[in-house]
Amino acid sequence: MQRHDVVVVGAGLAGQRAALAAIEAGRDVAIVTKLHPLRSHSGAAQGGINAAVGKEDSVDTHIYDTVKGSDYLGDQDAIEFFCREAGPTVVEMEHFGTIFSRADDGSLARRPFGGAGFPRTIYAADRTGLALLQALYERLGTESFTIYEEWDLTSLVVHDGRVQGIVAFDRRHGDFAAIAAKAVVLATGPAGRIYGRTTNAHSCTGDGLAAAYRAGAALKDMEFVQFHPTALLESSILITEGARGEGGILKNANGERFMSRYAPHVLDLASRDVVSRAIWTEVQEGRGFPGRYVHLELMHLGREKIETRLQEICDFTRAFAGVDPVTQPIPVMPAQHYMMGGISTDLHGEATIPGLFAAGEAACVSIHGANRLGGNSLLETLVFGKQAGLAAAAYAETAATASVTPEDLEGETAHVRAMAARKDGEEPQALRSEMQATMDRYVGIYRSPGDLEEALRRLRALQRRYENVRISETSRVYNLHLTDALETGHMLDLAEVIVVGALARTESRGAHTRLDYPKRDDVNWMRHTIARPGPEGPTLSYAPVAYTRWEPKERVY
Ligand code: FUM
Repeated sequence: MQRHDVVVVGAGLAGQRAALAAIEAGRDVAIVTKLHPLRSHSGAAQGGINAAVGKEDSVDTHIYDTVKGSDYLGDQDAIEFFCREAGPTVVEMEHFGTIFSRADDGSLARRPFGGAGFPRTIYAADRTGLALLQALYERLGTESFTIYEEWDLTSLVVHDGRVQGIVAFDRRHGDFAAIAAKAVVLATGPAGRIYGRTTNAHSCTGDGLAAAYRAGAALKDMEFVQFHPTALLESSILITEGARGEGGILKNANGERFMSRYAPHVLDLASRDVVSRAIWTEVQEGRGFPGRYVHLELMHLGREKIETRLQEICDFTRAFAGVDPVTQPIPVMPAQHYMMGGISTDLHGEATIPGLFAAGEAACVSIHGANRLGGNSLLETLVFGKQAGLAAAAYAETAATASVTPEDLEGETAHVRAMAARKDGEEPQALRSEMQATMDRYVGIYRSPGDLEEALRRLRALQRRYENVRISETSRVYNLHLTDALETGHMLDLAEVIVVGALARTESRGAHTRLDYPKRDDVNWMRHTIARPGPEGPTLSYAPVAYTRWEPKERVY
């Protein structure tokens, strides 16, 4: 059996940064990942990374924008730490070799992003995530560590109240394996594939969140789901907020620049929750185009700017929508993009079970509260990836030897044997599609109690049907049908947590908009939702929000 001091699950930016920190701290580190590191979803991040680096900007303004953007649900101590780390983090990534775009004077180019009081989003054209990922991968490649590639996390091993390792499925050989680890860092990224209309990659199935939840770790604020305002119609490919940062504007079918009604001061660059609600309202009230979408216009920016600053957007819209953004408007609609919630951690990445750490989108520190600002998530992966790696390394230094037992492995293999032996069960893909349709239809930008209750009823029916899921593909090697079945089980659990949290939160805050409770309720709901598994589904409790300097105010954009 394999054994390491620290096992990092996930090889995107958060996972790689955690691994690097733990290696530099002298620990024996392994990365377990379902994808080659350069194919991780971090590479899909387009528009940029926030840092207050110039003389005119200030860290305090970045902190304030993030607090306000979070609709005052973000923990202000964590936000202060996060924004202070931004400048050093960007400089470090440049020293690792990231080629950022430049202004005419050679300084780091910065563009405006939604909800930001200053243009502080540093970028590499519209491939910022990929540029960071490549640089970090090269840096990590100079260190010595073990990598288990194309391994799917299936569960955490918990003994004596402490995480002591993981169980994972090795796709290439078709075997389950247990890895003992004194500390485990979950950096498994998002769970956006719970929805059908999402900007997330197909790999974003919340495996780490589900494993943590099933092991009894707290999930925090899962009801807060971000919809990115501009996803390409039908494919839901991200059209970066950087497009509006460069001057792109939204128009409805009447040719109106409708954001003037919703955010008269900042228009198209209001925070994402505000812009997504505005687009949805325009379409619902009949001012969208017949296929139920609005236009994002870039044409006035001119060919040179569009083709140099927004290269990927040009490729995507030409290839996937047959639209040339130099001469034609882009058809867009909001799509699920990010989960503000995740595995509850402190600002060193420590989760609620000893030996367990988390970072990146899988974690909830919480710096985003009820709504994340664009450009803060790449930063989050690096800042808190490093913190989680350092904390895991420190924990592993003094932790007793970890042990995993044959029974830990047997539990997983028995489950799979049962799925494979079934002759008349259901295919996982059918259950996954129904879950996605349910979330798209009933758990969207605007939420009503009737819709949420219907979603819960349907999801619980799907969970019961999942008990009878079968794997019809029998090959041992690259049995993606099995991967599909495992991932679908993970997502069904997480979808239930989202809906239960959303039903309980009787207010509207950030990305959570209740039609029956349209106002923010600071008296009763200025608190984090904590979800743990109970005998009949998630059980909820609540935790206070940390304040430092900013009293909640009405948000005006
Ligand atoms: O719009 C974007 O480029 C996305 C950035 C983000 O989610 O931070």
